[in-house]
Amino acid sequence: MLGRKTPRRSSIGYRPIGPSDLEILQQLHADLFPIRYEPEFFHNVVNRREIISWGAVDRNRPNAQSDELIGFVTIKIVLARESEITDLVRFDPTRSDQSLVYILTLGVVESYRNFGVASGLIREVTRYAKTIPTCRAAYLHVISYNTPAIYLYKKMSFTCVRRLYGFYLIEGQHYDAYLFVYYVNGGRSPCSPLELAVCAVNYVRSSLKSVAGRLWRYDVKKPWRWTKCKDNCGLVTPSQSKRNLVNEGSNDFQCV
Ligand SMILES: CC(C)(COP(=O)(O)OP(=O)(O)OC[C@H]1O[C@@H](n2cnc3c(N)ncnc32)[C@H](O)[C@@H]1OP(=O)(O)O)[C@@H](O)C(=O)NCCC(=O)NCCS
Repeated sequence: MLGRKTPRRSSIGYRPIGPSDLEILQQLHADLFPIRYEPEFFHNVVNRREIISWGAVDRNRPNAQSDELIGFVTIKIVLARESEITDLVRFDPTRSDQSLVYILTLGVVESYRNFGVASGLIREVTRYAKTIPTCRAAYLHVISYNTPAIYLYKKMSFTCVRRLYGFYLIEGQHYDAYLFVYYVNGGRSPCSPLELAVCAVNYVRSSLKSVAGRLWRYDVKKPWRWTKCKDNCGLVTPSQSKRNLVNEGSNDFQCV
């Protein structure tokens, strides 16, 4: 169905996904993801009902295919106060309209990978998020073994803020997920309570080590260092919500 790879980045274009993309969009999701998405999801995407999307096309392909999707990204806007990352964004509880962009699905046809197509799609998303004055961040979940996707999000300056144990349940098997966040419009939280707790533990631990070191090793004097509160993949918290993707309701789709 899909033509051969055309390794010219300049021929790749991005556009909104519409009703004429329904079939190929369904096909791509079936090909690229280990889970099944409900027909309602695809109808919501192509009819732009609560889901916003961009498709990637290769203008260099023969006429009939020059507008056919070779990649896609789907997102929805969620209220920050109702999201699972309220503690990770600079959140003003007096303003109920603060929002986040949640990336639902992202994929690129195999023969077009590693040409920057997904990077282009992510750029569309972050650019869009910045244009929404109430938006504080874009975020997503990715299954822990998806190395290319994890590499991509890091490359695009997303920060891995959490590991969610057993987050996905796919065909009876649990898989961990990473939660990645890209802050916009000053949405970065200075430090979550959890990060502060981690800092405090590290501080006490370092102090004890320092005292022990002085008591037992008079000859070696290493300067003690404050362990910086940083947001990286080292910050892991247990999953608060396990998701069964096979039985998932149609309003709760996630990137894997
Ligand atoms: C993840 C995915 C969307 C990336 O699409 P893409 O168009 O190839 O991405 P890009 O070309 O923009 O960037 C890919 C980067 O990952 C790198 N990469 C690819 N495979 C990698 C691997 N196994 N390990 C490390 N890096 C890898 C590429 O070298 C490239 O980096 P570079 O630009 O620095 O060279 C694509 O692989 C895909 O559709 N996978 C199946 C669906 C999926 O997993 N979606 C994500 C769900 S969260």
